[in-house]
Amino acid sequence: MKNRLTFFLPVNTGYVTEGLPDHRFLDFYSGRSSASLYCAIVGNVVVPGGHGSNSSTPVLSDAPIWGQIAEAIKVAGSKPGVQLATAWQGYTGNKKFRSSEPKVFLSEARQLVDQMDADAIEKVLRSFELGAHIAIEHGFEHIQIHAAHGYLLSLLVDQRINHRAAVVLDRLVILAEQIKSRGAESSIRISMRTGDEVFDSVGMNIFHDSIVRLPFDFIDLSSGFYNVDKRLIYPATSTFIESRFLESVRLGIRHPHRPFIISGHVSAKNWDDMAPNLHPGLCRDLIANPNFLSEHKNGCRNYSKCHYYSRGTDSLTCGRWTKK
Ligand SMILES: Cc1cc2nc3c(=O)[nH]c(=O)nc-3n(C[C@H](O)[C@H](O)[C@H](O)COP(=O)(O)O)c2cc1C
Repeated sequence: MKNRLTFFLPVNTGYVTEGLPDHRFLDFYSGRSSASLYCAIVGNVVVPGGHGSNSSTPVLSDAPIWGQIAEAIKVAGSKPGVQLATAWQGYTGNKKFRSSEPKVFLSEARQLVDQMDADAIEKVLRSFELGAHIAIEHGFEHIQIHAAHGYLLSLLVDQRINHRAAVVLDRLVILAEQIKSRGAESSIRISMRTGDEVFDSVGMNIFHDSIVRLPFDFIDLSSGFYNVDKRLIYPATSTFIESRFLESVRLGIRHPHRPFIISGHVSAKNWDDMAPNLHPGLCRDLIANPNFLSEHKNGCRNYSKCHYYSRGTDSLTCGRWTKK
């Protein structure tokens, strides 16, 4: 992965005490940051006034711990980044990996956004603006907007779910420009697919292109909606890994002048042949082995212990990495 910008992608660790990241959170990120890692994106962090995806998701605030985390990542050698997100009141993540009723989630998602008036949508976008402002004040130098995995923004930006998506995309242009004007780098994370085959079979390229046009510095390509099919979010079998990889590479080829972050066990790929606009995003390999970038081995073995929420526990553990 030489000459590429390597990202540590967002992880909801659950290392939170009374709503704030604790020492486990700080140690987890600083222990994985280094001169070999371009940027560590702390995830996922709820915007002020927003809603967490589970009870151990931290909310961004003026608490000094946020600045300490940004500083610790920077001192260790990486650019401190943060992923800003919100779900909605009453959101509950599925414990099962694959929903038995994906269509129900998508139809409820349409109803949810239909019921939001222009003021409610504007309030959500303002909370992202405020979140970005607070994060930059704390010293975060990369702001990622979480518009993936079926959380609120992923519903709002997709014309197939929200018929007023164009308004939201216009507001995201302003947000990306604000982040740039404050001197920080930006990215937007999307799910290329939801995991519902019927939904995904219509209008997918149009949706992708509408996001690629936004002036974020990077487009981070994830896949899957949490309440539709999580196997796309954390691909573990070769079928899921390959299809996500090919879809990411094709999108990168269609937009050769736009930088993309691609992920899904990508450390095993041959990066020498990859288009220059693609950058590796790693997650489980770095969870499993904080020194993965210098050792290039002993990464994730898909033991699945890290899926703490699905397993009914409240914070991340790993079958290979043991906390000191
Ligand atoms: C335990 C765990 C928590 C995750 N939390 C988040 C999150 O908060 N936000 C997000 O966008 N992705 C999250 N992801 C997805 C990862 O960022 C990444 O896209 C995915 O694991 C695929 O990359 P990998 O194959 O290198 O692990 C999480 C993944 C894992 C394993």
